[in-house]
Amino acid sequence: MARLMVRGGEPLRGSIRINGAKNAVLPMMAAAVLTRSECVIRDVPDIRDVRVMIEILKDLGVSVQLGEIDGRRRLSLKAESIRTDVVNAELMKKMRSSVLLFGPLLARLGSARMTYPGGCAIGPRPVDMHLDGFAAMGATVNERGGQVTAAAGRGRLSGAEIHLEYPSVGATENIMMAAARADGVTRIWNPAREPEVANLAAFLQALGAEIEGIGSDVITVRGSGQLGGAECGVIPDRIEAGTYAIAGVITGGELTLENVRPEHLRAFVAKMKEVGAGICVGRDRIHVRGPERPGAADVRTLPYPGYPTDLQNQYLALSCVGEGTSVVTESIFENRFKVAAELTKMGASIHTEGRLAVVKGVDRLCGASVEADDDLRGGASLVLAGLRAEGTTVVRGAEYIDRGYMNLAERLRSLGANVVAMG
Ligand code: UD1
Repeated sequence: MARLMVRGGEPLRGSIRINGAKNAVLPMMAAAVLTRSECVIRDVPDIRDVRVMIEILKDLGVSVQLGEIDGRRRLSLKAESIRTDVVNAELMKKMRSSVLLFGPLLARLGSARMTYPGGCAIGPRPVDMHLDGFAAMGATVNERGGQVTAAAGRGRLSGAEIHLEYPSVGATENIMMAAARADGVTRIWNPAREPEVANLAAFLQALGAEIEGIGSDVITVRGSGQLGGAECGVIPDRIEAGTYAIAGVITGGELTLENVRPEHLRAFVAKMKEVGAGICVGRDRIHVRGPERPGAADVRTLPYPGYPTDLQNQYLALSCVGEGTSVVTESIFENRFKVAAELTKMGASIHTEGRLAVVKGVDRLCGASVEADDDLRGGASLVLAGLRAEGTTVVRGAEYIDRGYMNLAERLRSLGANVVAMG
């Protein structure tokens, strides 16, 4: 098990360039299955989830090449022929986003099979809305013994009117990808509005798909039998940006985040201002200055443009040292306060009940041995708490953090933090 050793107390200073977004690159990689032509994706982050997706794509028969131009990673994918309609079960367990291959495979081959996806242990995370969408498009979907199979009538999906009960990011993306190669028009009502959905749509449009209404109440996709090749960049990772911003604020330091889209971080920036951080927003950068001790503020996670659930655990770490009581409400996932028990070992005072966490800020945290426990963002929040704590914090299970953060220890060290990766 990998560990990160964090010695707290150093205010972070300097500049950090934000990488391409994990949650944008993964669906774009899945979309490459829709076409026989070459797809090139720029600004691909070197994180474990991307490596797992590469393995899954290779297993399907996709030819994959990774290169670098001017320090920016480029991934070339060519799915000239696809070997199988089964997503590898072992690899599927490693990453929930592998479910995003289901729509593209079904649309391209007329059938798809998978086991239930893995990923972070933050609640049941069903995929019923994805499957209902494919059924509405004419697929026969069967679920038995942890296996899902789907087959399109006469090998082709048909456009449909699909109303999502909830604006699920994954369901919107999966259905949008399938619709791009279906016959006829698909309308997705109540879709997700996350910037990563827009990035995927831009990629699909570059492949030749006709898509309208991104960011609105309804996305319209006019399907086409053939899609071509394209090259597309990945947007900067707003969650990585927010995590570094909190690293700056929690240590009372001063950081410049470069290569960000401030318009994707409005709810987060508002919250940082509320706790007393000095924030200066530029065109593609944000400067953050931490107060000596942050104030308290309540947070409620919501679909975009609300405060992101993927920055909830990091905020929880910050509120542990806030001056006063903060109430954090998690409205997206059922079980996303697992990290509270670990933060408590560091001296935090957190009371959780269902989707609520009441945090009474303390004036100091103490280093402890804690566990990331299968939880990417929870693991990151333990590192953040460790940066503020007195003494040494050892975060076990740090391999989960690698799922979504590129070289976290090294990058934090470049800002003056005392963080070492061990084993
Ligand atoms: C994506 C992100 C994840 C982020 C989440 C919410 C990726 C790779 N992952 O996950 O980092 O935390 O959006 O912003 O982009 N749900 C159902 N049925 C479904 C689909 C979802 O009940 O068919 C529920 C889930 O259990 C969850 C909620 O809807 O409680 C949100 O899920 P969704 O928006 O689909 O998140 P993901 O796409 O899994």
